[in-house]
Amino acid sequence: MQQDSSVSKYSGKKHVKFSDEALALAHKIMKRYPEGKQKSAILPILHIAQAEFEGWLSVETMDYVATLLKIQSIEVYEVASFYSMFNLKPVGKCVIEVCRTGPCWLMGAEDLVRFIEKKLGIKEGQTTPDGMFTLKTVECLASCGTAPMMQIGETYHENLTFEKCGAVLDEYKNKGEQVSHWRKERIKHHSDIHR
Ligand code: FES
Repeated sequence: MQQDSSVSKYSGKKHVKFSDEALALAHKIMKRYPEGKQKSAILPILHIAQAEFEGWLSVETMDYVATLLKIQSIEVYEVASFYSMFNLKPVGKCVIEVCRTGPCWLMGAEDLVRFIEKKLGIKEGQTTPDGMFTLKTVECLASCGTAPMMQIGETYHENLTFEKCGAVLDEYKNKGEQVSHWRKERIKHHSDIHR
């Protein structure tokens, strides 16, 4: 897979370019919109960009997305910084998103976050030194009936107790490098959605 993020010796900026597979998918999605309205494709294109570049969006990546969509970079920054599913700094292979909204909070989300922090030895917003886990808290993930819950990648883990949550984290840790294949899987996932 061709995926370019080399550094220019002139500007010091990274050259960012999608792989052929991701670029073809991006063009397919953009073609769904009338000429001049490609901005409407910004959310799926940002998802693809995040999957292409290790799970986060650098300024260079967002600038590249702006070029693809023929819009101003600031328009991409605004969207990317609004939604919690986009990461603006490097993250671990597994991004843990614990819901902190009312129903989950009432069912013990705060204690769950403290439990995860203790288990992984990091604070909310941080990544473990081995680059395996990043811990985030997010607003309602629309699974309030199974609170408390968390999302890792595209999987929901629901009705969590400390024991269940610990077992889930151990399972991901045991998968080790296998988990790093998620990026390829995500591109495939987006290809399936936008067939
Ligand atoms: S409040 Fe947590 S999923 Fe809705």
